[in-house]
Amino acid sequence: MTEERKGLFLSAAMDAEPDLSAPAPERGILRQSWFLHKTAGWVKERSLAAGRPLTACSVCFGCQMNARDSEKIAGVLKMAGFELTEEENADFVIYNTCTVRDNADSRVYGRLGRVSHFRRANPDMRVALCGCMMQEKSAVEKVRKSYGFVDLIFGTHNLDRFPEYLYRTVTGTEKITEIEEEDGEGAESLPIARKYPWKSGVNIMFGCDNFCTYCIVPYVRGRERSRMPEDILDEIRRLRDDGVREIMLLGQNVDSYGKKTETGASFAELLSRAADIDGIERVRFMTSHPKDLSPEVIRVVAGNGKIARHIHLPLQSGSNRILKMMNRRYTREHYLELVQAIREGIPGVAITTDIMTGFPSETPEDIDDTIDVVRKAAFENAFTFIYSMRAGTPASRMEQLSEEEKKAGFTRVLSVVQEVAKEQTAKAAGTDGTALIEELNSQIPGYVTGRLSNNTLVHIPGTEEMIGRFVRVHLDECRGFYYFGTAAGEPY
Ligand code: SAH
Ligand code: SF4
Ligand code: F3S
Repeated sequence: MTEERKGLFLSAAMDAEPDLSAPAPERGILRQSWFLHKTAGWVKERSLAAGRPLTACSVCFGCQMNARDSEKIAGVLKMAGFELTEEENADFVIYNTCTVRDNADSRVYGRLGRVSHFRRANPDMRVALCGCMMQEKSAVEKVRKSYGFVDLIFGTHNLDRFPEYLYRTVTGTEKITEIEEEDGEGAESLPIARKYPWKSGVNIMFGCDNFCTYCIVPYVRGRERSRMPEDILDEIRRLRDDGVREIMLLGQNVDSYGKKTETGASFAELLSRAADIDGIERVRFMTSHPKDLSPEVIRVVAGNGKIARHIHLPLQSGSNRILKMMNRRYTREHYLELVQAIREGIPGVAITTDIMTGFPSETPEDIDDTIDVVRKAAFENAFTFIYSMRAGTPASRMEQLSEEEKKAGFTRVLSVVQEVAKEQTAKAAGTDGTALIEELNSQIPGYVTGRLSNNTLVHIPGTEEMIGRFVRVHLDECRGFYYFGTAAGEPY
């Protein structure tokens, strides 16, 4: 194996050497492989001439789906021979953007402002933008107008062509903008450089058809489509062979897996088959939707100890009036029944959620309703967001609350969320669990940090060799949202 391919997860199409003396194949992954190998030759030459490796920096904003895409971006860059770095003063810098809330956009513009200085000082440097924000015309126009130095822009549907764009960008000087409205073929065959060797996300579906009235995701990620179960399970087996022990099945609404695309398997079946794969020790999944989560999924989780005792079930609001306006298609009563079924069906489960405050017309009474559900559901954790108006969504055409009104509801909900989450976390004191050790503790020397099946964080005395391994732990002391513990067995 060549140096560049170490640590890469390669599909057969990418592993084969293309004939570079022949013209590039017309389309598909073979065309991308041709460009990738071509770029590798160019990078090698340039590095020799420069007397140093060319560097690339890939920055990801956004959710697990974007993070998985960024692992493909990193895979392509690594296979092309770039040395990956976190320094934004690199030879090639790429930002994988998110646009779910306005502050995600602002962060990108902030970073572009900073990187512009490096780009101006170094004419050989190249800057690229991709991801969800680039699927919005207005964002692309703004970048083209105010950040003219950006060399390459592409969207969420044509990541499969990144090798070709990369080649054109690094070897030429043209400014490239390529946005598509439909998926290309073969993004799943790009090389992958995982952030963590022992865990991985696995896309089971793409896009979203729910059109919650506040949400931009259906517009920037397109219609819902599911991958075939055999392709998913194959990928998991290959990941297992590559050292992966924990996987997370990813989709905007995993419970509708296989409903629109004829896959022949429901999410519950897929989950069960994924967890049956030998060598995969833990299976997580995200995100469940309260309107679709089935009793079958609860039964499958309950019946298979390898599936994490954790369900992330976004509530958004506890007010039926607001839920209706959001087009969430469930009621607070249904949500609470679901919580009860999950807690009864899966002992030791943690239920976490997303809550949004400040949706158009939300009153202090609606916030009371949300707080009431938070207390009744007794969430182990909750991410609380302030509603952010997204252009083109139905909610953007409703009358908006003032910033102060939005903030007031947020502060009230957040304090109850924290109080409830602390109470819930403390309940596990004195018990044992199994943690997957993820990293050295950055604050306390001699400690490592791991995650229990129910997602609780625990810090235990340990060493670097434990990273990526499972260990039985005793939960000694609760410190709010996490534990201090001790190993109660050998790591495996
Ligand atoms: N598909 C998932 C969530 C995707 S976005 C689901 O249906 O729950 C992740 C979270 O971001 C959402 O749960 C929601 O709480 C939040 N979010 C989405 N759009 C938002 C907006 N316009 N303003 C504020 N928060 C938003
Ligand atoms: Fe957005 Fe709703 Fe789809 Fe989640 S389910 S991605 S919140 S539209
Ligand atoms: Fe953001 Fe796109 Fe994910 S908008 S939340 S990165 S699907």
